[in-house]
Amino acid sequence: MTGLGFEPFDAPLGARVVGADPDALGPDEVQALQAALLAHGLLLFRGRTISPSQLVAIGRAFGELEILPEPDKRDPNHPEIFNLSNVRADGEIVEFDEPQAVFLRGTERWHTDSSFREIPALCTILAAVEVPKRGGQTQFAEMRKALSLVPAEQRAEMASLRLVHSYEWSRSMNPGRMNPMTEDERAKYPPVEHPWIRTHADGSESLYMGGHASHIVGRDPAESRHWFAEIEAQLSVHDVVYEHQWQADDLLVWDNRTLLHRLLPYDIANERRVMRRVTVAGTERPKSRVLA
Ligand code: OGA
Ligand code: MN
Repeated sequence: MTGLGFEPFDAPLGARVVGADPDALGPDEVQALQAALLAHGLLLFRGRTISPSQLVAIGRAFGELEILPEPDKRDPNHPEIFNLSNVRADGEIVEFDEPQAVFLRGTERWHTDSSFREIPALCTILAAVEVPKRGGQTQFAEMRKALSLVPAEQRAEMASLRLVHSYEWSRSMNPGRMNPMTEDERAKYPPVEHPWIRTHADGSESLYMGGHASHIVGRDPAESRHWFAEIEAQLSVHDVVYEHQWQADDLLVWDNRTLLHRLLPYDIANERRVMRRVTVAGTERPKSRVLA
């Protein structure tokens, strides 16, 4: 038994966790959180200040942690932590066009974290340290619901298709100049293929796509992206999106298997936004009901 409870949001996804401290999770709690993650997609812990080492410990309770590309964004004391901050090492806020800002603005596209890996991320855990007064929300799209909106004929076609996901490609699409990737990183992240329709442990299915997906295997890239854009345009029209309004000391855990997410713009060159992230590695390749 745990004292853990979940209060679902009045939204297409998400729940607030009550009755548990994020920094004191036992195995029973983690198991309950894992199940809730698949059911709700996103879990919110509110109002606890989480230190960097606590964040790493919380992440490890869920699984192995990824070390992300972009060495300059790793916390020097905790390489598993990705510092998503528009405040430079010298304490100044970034300029709109400098590489650090370009990278952050790159997350304004719908995407799912680490889909460029053979075994993509299970979940991301993001802790808010400083949040802007206006903008900077994060939107999440429930891609099982998005799939259910696709007409049957299109869905049947998608079921036999795979998408190519590539870090190098998505990075090249960032909105401005970036520091070049190292040769090592380039070699470490070759393009991978995943089924477009992904099947989950509970038998549910979702669309697996987003900003790292460059094209459909065997199809014209421009045509592929046109189709991606059509689907993404539907997300906000239909009721599949939850928008998180951050408060300092929010801790969000989201499921990268079933959701897409994107940052909403804010005044990046003037308002501080400081977030710390750990990414929990997945344990298996995305599966498909149809593809071998
Ligand atoms: C990311 C990301 C969203 C945010 O780090 O991949 O999508 O709200 N961040 O900062
Ligand atoms: Mn992301």
